[in-house]
Amino acid sequence: MEMDIYTPLEKHTQDIYTTVELTKDKKEGQMEADPVPPANVDYRMCLFNILLFLSTLLIVVVVIIAVYHFTHYKEMTKNLSTLQFQFEQLNKIVRPLDKFCPLREPPALVKMCSVCPHNWLLFDSKCYLFSTDKQNWYDSQDTCTSEGGHLVIIETKEEQDILTALLEIKGSEEKSYWIGLTDEIKEGHFVWVDNKPLDPQKAFWGKRQNDNGTEPDHWTDELNNPFGQNCVCLQKKKPSSGWYGLNCENQKKRICEAAASTFPSRI
Ligand SMILES: *[C@@H]1O[C@H](CO)[C@@H](O)[C@H](O)[C@H]1NC(C)=O
Ligand SMILES: *[C@@H]1O[C@H](CO)[C@@H](O)[C@H](O)[C@H]1NC(C)=O
Repeated sequence: MEMDIYTPLEKHTQDIYTTVELTKDKKEGQMEADPVPPANVDYRMCLFNILLFLSTLLIVVVVIIAVYHFTHYKEMTKNLSTLQFQFEQLNKIVRPLDKFCPLREPPALVKMCSVCPHNWLLFDSKCYLFSTDKQNWYDSQDTCTSEGGHLVIIETKEEQDILTALLEIKGSEEKSYWIGLTDEIKEGHFVWVDNKPLDPQKAFWGKRQNDNGTEPDHWTDELNNPFGQNCVCLQKKKPSSGWYGLNCENQKKRICEAAASTFPSRI
């Protein structure tokens, strides 16, 4: 069995390699196929070129995007400063309106605008009208009502101060105006025209010059003033401007008050 795998040598010139020619031929054939064929070189070159092309393309695209973004960035920066400038200009125009349209809900940017009837003065969402004609206290209240308001009800120190200041502006003409306060029903019990009693903490009575006495003094005079001084005027006076009791039948100018109309507007 062992002898079978070897071909017996018949001549001395023969060697074992001649007997394995077939095998050797096959090996040589393989050896010849080993060098890279030209087709393969083309393929690699082609792949390299494609990669080179793609990388170049990528770089070009990146550069284009960068340039595009850079120019856009510059344009947007320019646009931003233009918008900021326009915003400031608009703000300059709109800001004075804040007096009439204060922000109602700051986060929602809703403004509430207040307006008064023609010739009425707006202060803190109330409208005031200083009359030029004179009437007694009752007719004054009726006239104010017919104009959509009432004789003024002074509720705060600020309101008292602004009305006194407005009185000062009116110069040397009339310095006495009816306000919506009276103690006609019960002496010494002052009520406003809305039937609310006067809060003594928010009373701004004047001080008389002749005796330094303070109002109200419940003064009566049998002849000229038998019913006392039940109605109240705001008077510009020295040493102190303030409220003074007068006979309700006196002919005086008046200060009417009305709520300002409000309307919402979006900004
Ligand atoms: C800049 O503003 C102009 C108009 O004012 C507009 O046409 C342009 O698109 C804006 N540019 C950018 C980048 O927003
Ligand atoms: C009123 O009071 C002031 C100081 O408060 C005083 O100077 C003046 O003399 C007083 N006048 C009268 C009439 O009492």
